[in-house]
Amino acid sequence: MSSFSLRDGMELGSASAAAQIEGGEVEHNWMDWQRRGHIKDGSSPARANDHYNRWQEDDQLMADMGMRIARIGVEWARIEPQEGKFDQSAVNHYVAEVRWLKKHKIKPLVTLHHFTNPMWFEEMGAFEKRGNVQYFMRFVTKMVQAFGKDVTEYITINEPNVYAMLGYYFGWWPPGKKRFRKAMHVMSVLTVAHVQAYQLIHALQKGIGIAGTHVSYAMNMQVFEPENPHKFKHRLLAYVAERFFQASIAKAMTLGVFRWPIRNLGKIKNGLYCDFIALNYYSRVTMASMQSGTRKGVPVNDLGWEIYPQGIVECLRFLMQLHPLPIYITENGTCDNGDAFRCRFLFDHLQTLCKSGLPVKRYYHWCFIDNFEWLEGESARFGLVHVDYKTQKRTVKRSGEFYSQIIKQNGVTEEMYREYVEPQQYKINAK
Ligand code: FCB
Repeated sequence: MSSFSLRDGMELGSASAAAQIEGGEVEHNWMDWQRRGHIKDGSSPARANDHYNRWQEDDQLMADMGMRIARIGVEWARIEPQEGKFDQSAVNHYVAEVRWLKKHKIKPLVTLHHFTNPMWFEEMGAFEKRGNVQYFMRFVTKMVQAFGKDVTEYITINEPNVYAMLGYYFGWWPPGKKRFRKAMHVMSVLTVAHVQAYQLIHALQKGIGIAGTHVSYAMNMQVFEPENPHKFKHRLLAYVAERFFQASIAKAMTLGVFRWPIRNLGKIKNGLYCDFIALNYYSRVTMASMQSGTRKGVPVNDLGWEIYPQGIVECLRFLMQLHPLPIYITENGTCDNGDAFRCRFLFDHLQTLCKSGLPVKRYYHWCFIDNFEWLEGESARFGLVHVDYKTQKRTVKRSGEFYSQIIKQNGVTEEMYREYVEPQQYKINAK
């Protein structure tokens, strides 16, 4: 079938994170990581999209493309550049942006923590220490009070599993540590941070008479498969990776149910600690060792990640079986530097979602605009809008046009399929 309609009431928008788009010399752990020479192409988050100054141009473009929802981030290191000293102009900046969005009929979903820590927090051990959670809570209080009724949807922490594994087990991301036990400990501390933030946000909103605030954490999930299903070792590795990377932490953060290796460091009771399922989905991986791989002959993006649309539903089924809730796809997208297959990617993933019968309410494409992609820097383009980093000129890509049409048409028609999707093919993994 080459056409489909969006589910009733399903809304489409895009997602971003402050440090990846804003630019500026902001004292956070990723600026520090860049200064230490870790970014593959030598680029810096200090440039990015200069969104901190150009946000109105970007948000206007979003509105013109027909988006009615947007996931945006706030940068803790700007808001609290020194411990306990808040910069009111930064707070006001974000308040102005969410008000602008609302005025233009775009509903904001705000992410409070998306990989970056202010350097003072990083230096005191960040989420390695249970005792540091209080600093995050103070920041959350500040922002939720500042936004008040203007924001009624929050993501507490983005991809706690990715933050912990890449920063504390693989050591590729700041702070570059390589200890498995530490990574698991960080996940346990992040669970406390999420649960406390969940409760705090609800209490603060209730305190000022705002009902109907929705809070969750954004879970990164992958499909893990044994490279060779006939090999016991590969099957075991797939099981272990799935459990360590995502299953245990999802259970703890969603339900307050703890199983090894996640520990209950906050006397958290069994309960329900999210109001919607927030899934960030990109890919499927195979396991034959402790590092994941990609099967030969499968479609891949420009970073070599397998394109596996069915996986989005497989991951959702896991989360739905923990607890059935409305579904927000808080990130899904692909690195396609030439915008050569993003339309097909969009079609395949949206169609799979719409035909799954699952209650998918929101889809936030990653990302609105090409941006600073962590270790890859500026060399990995995920945007619906192209940026020329030298001139900062924005140009809507063909995939951006297609996305905008999907929103306006409430789905993909046969005609749109023929125009945007049919001519595109995925690259195949030859390795
Ligand atoms: C996710 C991150 C997001 C972006 C995409 C490509 O894991 O949450 O910031 O880097 O990957």
